[in-house]
Amino acid sequence: MIKVLFICLGNICRSPMAEFTLKHIVTQRGIAHQFEIASAATSTEEIWNGIGNPIYPPARKELEKHGIPYDENKRAVQLKKADYDYYDYLIGMDAMNIRDMERITGHRGGKISMLLSYTGSNAGISDPWYSGNFDETYRDVVKGCTAFLEFLHKEGKL
Ligand code: 4NP
Repeated sequence: MIKVLFICLGNICRSPMAEFTLKHIVTQRGIAHQFEIASAATSTEEIWNGIGNPIYPPARKELEKHGIPYDENKRAVQLKKADYDYYDYLIGMDAMNIRDMERITGHRGGKISMLLSYTGSNAGISDPWYSGNFDETYRDVVKGCTAFLEFLHKEGKL
């Protein structure tokens, strides 16, 4: 089982988009049984009294536009230190996520990476919460997820 945790600031836009996009791709390829995929936030911005917000409606719309199913019951949860031991890949969206992931988990490098790094880029995925550009986020997420699967294949993990 390859355990993947996607991470962004709020866990209502980019990381759930990556979670459900990768779930969809591996389902289509018939390899979903080889994966456990989830997502989490670095912040508590979208978590109130311990209850996380659902996926942001424009992010849902973007997934729907591309025929990607998502879980209506997904709620924002915060990354915790123990997640580092449980997951094999902790994949952040931008450089700020990476710094926060390092602070929360107490680890640097190792299982921690940035999604677009699998495409050979050191760019972050811009936050649609601020940019409003969910289409651009979706395209970057697909590029990153596809490249991540290629990476796993090259590593002999698939
Ligand atoms: P995300 O976007 O990190 O892609 O989920 C954000 C959503 C909410 C906030 C920040 C970023 N916020 O500050 O509430």
